[in-house]
Amino acid sequence: SSKAVILVGGGTRGTRFRPLSLDIPKVLFPVAGRPILSHALSALATVSSIKEVLLIGFYDDSVFKDFLTEAAREFPSFNIRYMREYRALGTAGGLYHFRDAILKGNPYRLFVIHADICCSFPLKEMLQIFDDKEAKAVILGTRVDSDTAARNFGCIVTDNQKKVIHYVEKPETHISNLINGGVYLFDRSIFDVIGAARTAKIEDSLNSPVDDDDESREVLRLEQDILVRLAQADGFYVYETRGFWRQIKTAGSAVPANALYLQKLFQTDIDAPGLAKASASILPPVYIDPTATVDPTAKLGPNVSIGPHARVGPGVRIKEAILLADTEVKHDANVRYSILARGAKVGAWARVEGSPITADEHQTVMIKNGARVQNICILARDVYVADEVRIQNCVVLPHKDIRNDVVNEIIM
Ligand code: GDD
Ligand code: GTP
Repeated sequence: SSKAVILVGGGTRGTRFRPLSLDIPKVLFPVAGRPILSHALSALATVSSIKEVLLIGFYDDSVFKDFLTEAAREFPSFNIRYMREYRALGTAGGLYHFRDAILKGNPYRLFVIHADICCSFPLKEMLQIFDDKEAKAVILGTRVDSDTAARNFGCIVTDNQKKVIHYVEKPETHISNLINGGVYLFDRSIFDVIGAARTAKIEDSLNSPVDDDDESREVLRLEQDILVRLAQADGFYVYETRGFWRQIKTAGSAVPANALYLQKLFQTDIDAPGLAKASASILPPVYIDPTATVDPTAKLGPNVSIGPHARVGPGVRIKEAILLADTEVKHDANVRYSILARGAKVGAWARVEGSPITADEHQTVMIKNGARVQNICILARDVYVADEVRIQNCVVLPHKDIRNDVVNEIIM
């Protein structure tokens, strides 16, 4: 059998996902009608050898309680558990800390997945290359067009046999446009490599005069501490995906993630529950929760998700947007490139607008007049936008009433 670990991180690190992560941890934020994590679990469920999935992070146990109950029902093919690090141990530190639990039952292969990515999860293809090359490790690679964007990720250099010969995490100068996609497939020997890296790190810190406390010594990073070692040895290969791939870091990046997963659903399962049928007022793909009320004269899509008990009035226009539970958009309002968190309300004839993401497909912030602005408009929980007000490229913190037009601001 095999297993999977999903690195879910923790509360302190989700800062870029604020204000949305104030209500809900990033990995449980719904895109295309389901929590971000569920999309990864669905992919894992297509691999029949996977018998257990472990979520490793440092969120409070209570955070995943309901999700796990729901997931156990939805994914009967594997057992799923949350294991909490007592503090952030790094992307490899958690794996090492829970190695006994992971190795229990002698899995011969282990997928490790970053929770904060949105992708087509070509897991079968990764297994295939693992077998073909008799590999010890396979990493998912994806190409980014821009050299500057590539430097925000781990950069991979291969030989012509797809063997990884060089790995540099977030390099300062250009190395490669093939980047680490945050999905790995390892055999059990990965724990020996982590163990060796850990020993080396402890020895280093003992020999160095800096007062390296016990805490930092235990932090092990898959990228800097482990992948670099794997690249120096044999058996480390890359699978370069041709499918979609995006990182979900900022709150605004939920909008492209929503679009990509909706398009995937529309292409693979046109009759999926909640997926609205194309019509004069629906431009697919559009997901509408069965408990939402949408007036038939409202025009929705493409790439719109409407959450539970949301209400959308007559003459409304919504595109490229996520409306969470209990939101309301009154008649003739216009919402685009935006996220409305739970309970947010938009008045009649109001406009809530972000901008299309064009400049760099891997970024959802843009520079305007020298200042960083969010190109996705975000209304946090229970925000109210009055009738006829226009708000553009803004982030509005919870419970605010907006009664005047605003552009490019963070409203606290
Ligand atoms: N359990 C646990 N413990 N998870 C963690 C920890 C930790 O201490 N630190 C990070 N994670 C999780 C995050 O929640 C996220 O899912 C993933 O590990 C990677 O997060 P970061 O450490 O913030 O790295 P990054 O996203 O900036 O870059 C990494 O991912 C890119 C792909 O998305 C690197 O691996 C890059 O090389 C890679 O390109
Ligand atoms: P779409 O992709 O169809 O939105 O086109 P577009 O990006 O060119 O947008 P445009 O502003 O032209 O508006 C498209 C549709 O939305 C048209 O039917 C407009 O009448 C309608 N529309 C535009 N602004 C508003 C508004 O503030 N309120 C309402 N209710 N409808 C609007």
